[in-house]
Amino acid sequence: MEILLTRRLHDFAIKELKKRHRVEIHTGKIPMPKNLLMSKIRDKDGMICYPYDRIDKDVIDAGNKLKAISTFSVGYDHVDVNAASQKGIVVSYTPEALTRATADLTVALMLDLFRRVNEGDKIIRGGKWKTILGPYEFLGSDLHGKTLGIFGMGRIGMAVAKRARGFEMNVLYHNRKRISPQREKSLNVRYVSLGELFRRSDVVSIHAPHTPKTHEMVNLRLLRKMKRTSFLVNTARGKIINEQDLVTALKRKIISGAALDVFGSEPIKSSNPLTKLANVVITPHIGSATIETRKKMAEIAVQNLVLSLSGKKPIYQVRAESSRPGLP
Ligand code: DGY
Repeated sequence: MEILLTRRLHDFAIKELKKRHRVEIHTGKIPMPKNLLMSKIRDKDGMICYPYDRIDKDVIDAGNKLKAISTFSVGYDHVDVNAASQKGIVVSYTPEALTRATADLTVALMLDLFRRVNEGDKIIRGGKWKTILGPYEFLGSDLHGKTLGIFGMGRIGMAVAKRARGFEMNVLYHNRKRISPQREKSLNVRYVSLGELFRRSDVVSIHAPHTPKTHEMVNLRLLRKMKRTSFLVNTARGKIINEQDLVTALKRKIISGAALDVFGSEPIKSSNPLTKLANVVITPHIGSATIETRKKMAEIAVQNLVLSLSGKKPIYQVRAESSRPGLP
């Protein structure tokens, strides 16, 4: 069969695909321009795509022979899953492989906010380290005893909760559906309303999927509920936050700071207002960016595609939700 890769993947993964299929790899501009994507998908049976590829209804309709879409990601807000399922196209993704890596980065960002690691680095490089250790210099705050609010208690949210226990934090969470009492007990987490989560937490961390419902859900109204001393961390999807509102909240010190690995539109430019704020830590969407995790993701993306194209169930299939029409 014919396969399209919207960018190069690990050599071992391409080799594996080539054992069974003909593979076309896009090597030009990333993301593929829509017209090019639509023309290339026309004669393809399957594709591997990425979060920045917008696989909307037009692209899906252009895929006359398309049977399987495998995304190299846990997020699938870039694929119109309903349009695909209406045409019998199997959509698969790569959760689990990246759970720990993303949870680790979340903790790294949280630690950075609380202990001002990045800021300290900048102080030294800027030649501003003038005073040696004293009672009031470069103070951050302890993580232990603080309250972490997890918005979205899926795989990654749970992995973050486990790690937070190691730091002796209290953990509250809000999720579309409450998790089982046994799970709550084993994770040592308490369910609260969204408002309460933002009100009570010293740091709120976002781990919800980006859907029409969560689109820009974190807005000024919600941010105003937070304590002035609290922080926001986002390693999920940038579009869950209304970025302008966040900039306002950070500028007016409505919240103390934010650490962001994801943005409304990526890559952000150095002119983005977020880059000008001292109380912001930013990373370039590296939640899953470890050698081991990306290799695992490639393995799964390939297996998902091969299985789907041979009429078998992929390892991880995305289910269409009638409540989620179109792309957010
Ligand atoms: C995902 O898998 O959705 C991540 O955001 C990509 O690193």
